[in-house]
Amino acid sequence: MAYTWGWGSVVHENATAYLKEWFDRMAPTYDRLEYLLGNVRPRVVEMAAPGQGARVLDAATGTGSQALAFASTGCEATGIDLSEEMIALARSKDGCGRTTFLNADASSMPFADGSFDVSVISFALHDMPGPMREKVLEELVRVTVPGGTIMIVDYEIPRDFIHRLFIRFMLSRYENVYVPAYFSYDLEGAIEGLGLEIEDKRQVLRGVGRILKCRK
Ligand SMILES: C[S@@+](CC[C@H](N)C(=O)[O-])C[C@H]1O[C@@H](n2cnc3c(N)ncnc32)[C@H](O)[C@@H]1O
Repeated sequence: MAYTWGWGSVVHENATAYLKEWFDRMAPTYDRLEYLLGNVRPRVVEMAAPGQGARVLDAATGTGSQALAFASTGCEATGIDLSEEMIALARSKDGCGRTTFLNADASSMPFADGSFDVSVISFALHDMPGPMREKVLEELVRVTVPGGTIMIVDYEIPRDFIHRLFIRFMLSRYENVYVPAYFSYDLEGAIEGLGLEIEDKRQVLRGVGRILKCRK
């Protein structure tokens, strides 16, 4: 599968196939990251403050931990992911029967407009090439009800040079080929460009992550 590196940009022949293969391979060990991310899940639910029975979408759900955190509070949660291996693990973790996990592309979602009260994407936008990222954000907006909540959780890029260099080095070692371009991406600008209002922002993971609560 051919790809080319530029300064912070990657062009890939088939990004979807590349990501699917990458995450199918990561799936069996992915939940080790819950050691770090486990504290973030309830904070996302608390900030979203969904009503009882709210319809929640977790786009690029991975092994479903964020979707399950919503379902455990009484929401009807749907998780979608490109990776069949991730989805199989997510299904195996469902203990409450209020989740549905589907193998689907978040840049072209199989849902009607306004299907969800709350839409979430966590720690996935940084994995995607720019055009896919933009499409996924547009799809999140489309499938959320007018006035609904969109939660975006991802890395916060440190402003100071040394920390920025360190985080970039670490992520470039362990993450996929699209991650370096995320370092020059203005996520909050992109969100506002879609007409969303950022209502609340909290830092997590000692400042390396952020939770953004947005209103459609
Ligand atoms: C780092 S994992 C994050 C998983 C989960 N959201 C979490 O918070 O742990 C990134 C996930 O995004 C998924 N993904 C990447 N691009 C996608 C796309 N276009 N559509 C659906 N899933 C996608 C990958 O398969 C992978 O499971």
